[in-house]
Amino acid sequence: LHVMDSVDSTNNYLKALAAQGAPDGTSAIADRQTAGRGRRGRSFFSPEGQGLYLSVLLRPQAHPDQLMHLTAMSAVAASRAVASVCGRRPGIKWTNDLVFGTRKLAGILTELSVVAETMETDYVVVGIGVNCTQSAFPEELREIATSIRMECGAPVDRCALAAALLREFARMEDALMTQRSEWLQEFAENCVTIGSDVRILRAGTERAAHADGIGPEAELLVTYPDGT
Ligand code: BTN
Repeated sequence: LHVMDSVDSTNNYLKALAAQGAPDGTSAIADRQTAGRGRRGRSFFSPEGQGLYLSVLLRPQAHPDQLMHLTAMSAVAASRAVASVCGRRPGIKWTNDLVFGTRKLAGILTELSVVAETMETDYVVVGIGVNCTQSAFPEELREIATSIRMECGAPVDRCALAAALLREFARMEDALMTQRSEWLQEFAENCVTIGSDVRILRAGTERAAHADGIGPEAELLVTYPDGT
């Protein structure tokens, strides 16, 4: 476990270690990130001492096609870990944001590397950022973000949360190829997206739909207004 005061991104840090052969389970935590990254090229707000920024390196023995559900299982692991330290279970916004109500508590960025010659999985880095002790957010995040402190009131023990996350990610890795359906069932039970109207953004297009459920690969099952 590599613990740092500051780093650009714990995902970047672990990817560099992975390229040098770091083993499964190698993890990184930073007290702040100077270039925390989210999905779709977004940044992740990572101020000093207020969040938990953690990444875990996994080397699953599985083809990339068999790992589509990993990101959803990471969300289940993370929501369990948050519940264990604050007593309230956050919802999951498909695929892998944790939310309380409509506000985002945590985001997960899963990055996979493939061996080009064989197309086998080289490694996966699962990175999670949890807003912990903030009592307010910058203007642009004020309406959309929340923290454990704002939701649960109690002081947040970031070390206990880190330990819980590492424990749950280890459980997830053990369950990855054998307990997929149980974990996806738990995902569906905690997924706030199911039953709501959504917008499907794909290749520059946008389409309204209704989210009905989760498929076997953790894909979101939707119905379009024309009934398809
Ligand atoms: C998202 O909201 O789209 C995902 C955010 C993921 C943020 C975490 S913080 C630890 C790890 N390092 C990063 O640069 N990103 C992830």
